[in-house]
Amino acid sequence: MMFEIKDLLLSLFFSNALTGDIVLTRPEQIHLAFGQNDSDIVVTWSTFDKTETSLVEYGIDDLTVRAKGTSKLFVDGGSGKHSQYIHTVTLNNLLPDTKYIYHCGSDLGWSDIFWFKTPPVQEIWQPHIAIYGDLGNENAQSLARLQEETQRGMYDAILHVGDFAYDMDSENAEIGDEFMRQIESIAAYVPYMTCPGNHEEKYNFSNYRERFSMINGPDFPAFSFNMGPLHVISISTEVYYFLNYGIKPLVLQYEWLEKDLIKANLPENREKQPWVVVMGHRPMYCSNTDGDDCTKNETLTRVGISFFHFFGLEKLLYDHGVDLEIWAHEHTYERLWPIYNHKVYNGSLEYPYTNPNAPVHFTTGSAGCKEGRDNFVHPRPEWSAFASRDYGYTRMKAYNATHLYFEQVSDDKHGAIIDSFWVIKDSHGGYPNSVIKERNGDKK
Ligand SMILES: *[C@@H]1O[C@H](CO)[C@@H](O)[C@H](O)[C@H]1NC(C)=O
Ligand SMILES: *[C@@H]1O[C@H](CO)[C@@H](O)[C@H](O)[C@H]1NC(C)=O
Ligand SMILES: *[C@@H]1O[C@H](CO)[C@@H](O)[C@H](O)[C@H]1NC(C)=O
Ligand SMILES: *[C@@H]1O[C@H](CO)[C@@H](O)[C@H](O)[C@H]1NC(C)=O
Ligand SMILES: *[C@@H]1O[C@H](CO)[C@@H](O)[C@H](O)[C@H]1NC(C)=O
Ligand SMILES: [Fe+2]
Repeated sequence: MMFEIKDLLLSLFFSNALTGDIVLTRPEQIHLAFGQNDSDIVVTWSTFDKTETSLVEYGIDDLTVRAKGTSKLFVDGGSGKHSQYIHTVTLNNLLPDTKYIYHCGSDLGWSDIFWFKTPPVQEIWQPHIAIYGDLGNENAQSLARLQEETQRGMYDAILHVGDFAYDMDSENAEIGDEFMRQIESIAAYVPYMTCPGNHEEKYNFSNYRERFSMINGPDFPAFSFNMGPLHVISISTEVYYFLNYGIKPLVLQYEWLEKDLIKANLPENREKQPWVVVMGHRPMYCSNTDGDDCTKNETLTRVGISFFHFFGLEKLLYDHGVDLEIWAHEHTYERLWPIYNHKVYNGSLEYPYTNPNAPVHFTTGSAGCKEGRDNFVHPRPEWSAFASRDYGYTRMKAYNATHLYFEQVSDDKHGAIIDSFWVIKDSHGGYPNSVIKERNGDKK
């Protein structure tokens, strides 16, 4: 009797497999990222069943070029042990300023056809970027507008400054899958560059690390890349807050960051990428009321950890002449006057952002998520230049070595621009009181 039941089950299993009525080898959750080389694009996607190969077929008018990559089994840490294969393929030596079409998959199933446009050569590229954090799968207020604008070709890249899906590991990582499908209509068309937020923490950030292919690989959260006149550095502020994973990630990141900043300031580099931009999830300053670390005077990331203030980032970034610091986490938009150690260092009273004497910070964490919006204190501190609770996101256009333009889009006000500003710099490098000014491009 037992034998017969086993036979029946086996034959059911095989007939299912042979008729193939459950196809779990078709790509989904397709997204792009910049690669290690300027002319690289990395394509990442998931399949729930294994495929022998991971392929991207692409070209200018047709799909005649074939690139091969690898796949890796990712098992979520939840009780469901939800598993999927995450495929990555790097497209090398792409032509500048060229529109490519592509699809991805294998002989067991192909995606729809998507497209992306490669940037012009770095020297003439004026990147236009959308920036936001804290985008959930529920109440994803800004998503539709971002999908539309991206597909109209408005952006060269997206910076998602931490906190995805709320949370990617929820419901045995089904929420992560759902979120990655939701952003596909953005992320399959432009590089979707990220940093981790507190909502990514579960199981040692594994959903974040495995799903997003960032430049230094899944085991090291920080990386940097160039976009025209911008040197963009993405860091994890979470290494300061989740010390349950040890202090090593924090120390390694700090050492890497210092090296990257020194390298960015070599005259030959800072000349090409004069704007050094840092993005991380949790702000050093905020005027919110929620009691988050940024509402306190001595933010961990700003002054460092323990009584001895080890590995503080504010001084490091100031000393290396970082121009711009982009944060999220607070579900609001807030722009600060140039600031260092709680003090405002305007360029001049009339033009605070023309040759500012300290980094310019803003926080853009209002893309929309199920936790809603945050509130502000009244009155806000003197360093707070503008604040809004509207859902929305930031646009940034890097014109050249001297001019950056920003605007804040309100989704509540149907795409209206509620704030805009220029940051203008005649030269880049250390600030007047930067300790290591002599290392910087300023010297010449
Ligand atoms: C970057 O480009 C160089 C030259 O084409 C090549 O040798 C190298 O392997 C590339 N690196 C990656 C990570 O693709
Ligand atoms: C967390 O992940 C990092 C990166 O893979 C690894 O180096 C570290 O050992 C992990 N820590 C723990 C506590 O699992
Ligand atoms: C925070 O620092 C400012 C400026 O140094 C000071 O005026 C204020 O009292 C401090 N607040 C707290 C809560 O320590
Ligand atoms: C910085 O500039 C703004 C705008 O002109 C002004 O309101 C603010 O008082 C200035 N702050 C300082 C410390 O000069
Ligand atoms: C840089 O861009 C700004 C804004 O478009 C423009 O006014 C300025 O002339 C440009 N500078 C150079 C050197 O091209
Ligand atoms: Fe957050």
